[in-house]
Amino acid sequence: MARVMLDVSSVYKSFSEPVLVDISLHLNGGEVLGVVGPNGCGKTTLLRIMAGLEFPDRGSVRREGKVGIVFQEDRLLPWKTLWENVALGLKYHGMRGEELTKRIREYSSMVGLTDSDLSLHPRKASGGTRRKAALVRALVLEPEILLLDEPFTGLDVKARASLREALKWIWDEYGLSTVIVSHQLEELLPLADRVYVLTPKPARVAEEIDLRGMDLERRLERVKEALLHILSRAGSD
Ligand SMILES: Nc1ncnc2c1ncn2[C@@H]1O[C@H](COP(=O)(O)OP(=O)(O)OP(=O)(O)O)[C@@H](O)[C@H]1O
Ligand SMILES: [Mg+2]
Repeated sequence: MARVMLDVSSVYKSFSEPVLVDISLHLNGGEVLGVVGPNGCGKTTLLRIMAGLEFPDRGSVRREGKVGIVFQEDRLLPWKTLWENVALGLKYHGMRGEELTKRIREYSSMVGLTDSDLSLHPRKASGGTRRKAALVRALVLEPEILLLDEPFTGLDVKARASLREALKWIWDEYGLSTVIVSHQLEELLPLADRVYVLTPKPARVAEEIDLRGMDLERRLERVKEALLHILSRAGSD
């Protein structure tokens, strides 16, 4: 049995109203886990709780290693170049000079970013380049668990394909355990080993689907069927 890297157990979270109700799920070592659910159901909140940026009202989260997170918005500092943005976390941890340069180049080249791409300020860079820079900013800290919030949103077809390739490369090379939240099923499902389907707000786990061994057509069919089922149930309440 693979080691469990992230274990979310009976998590409940409410702001002014309940957002997450009795969520239990886990991420196995080396696995790519998808989380899908209707708009506004609580996916980002769940990811923030997984990362330890937010705390559940009830339930618990156990992490076996360092977590890296890439947010839905890129959250790059506009007055710094992409390189400086990527370097920030490492500098905070005291890394300098050649070691810093080497580390940044290692992960940038993995996702297909050059020094010249990284010399740009965020507003001058394409959406795909910014998204990759945000990914590199997380990767350079060498997390054991990677959390991606809607990584393909706002990117054109070419940038999405390029990001998908970069992610595959990272998984092949490092087997990095990853959770991807995405409503873009065509992007997510070819990549994921397993998915959890969440209900409309408040989010509960409606279904867990193991996608391994299914071709893409079957994966899409299976997950769309699950989403339709929960939406029709929500409509009849
Ligand atoms: N800090 C907060 N304070 C109050 N309400 C919040 C907070 N964070 C999230 N919410 C509410 O929780 C609900 C779920 O939000 P969340 O962003 O987690 O959903 P989501 O599934 O990621 O949405 P989207 O599909 O738009 O990305 C929303 O109703 C939102 O308004
Ligand atoms: Mg969200």
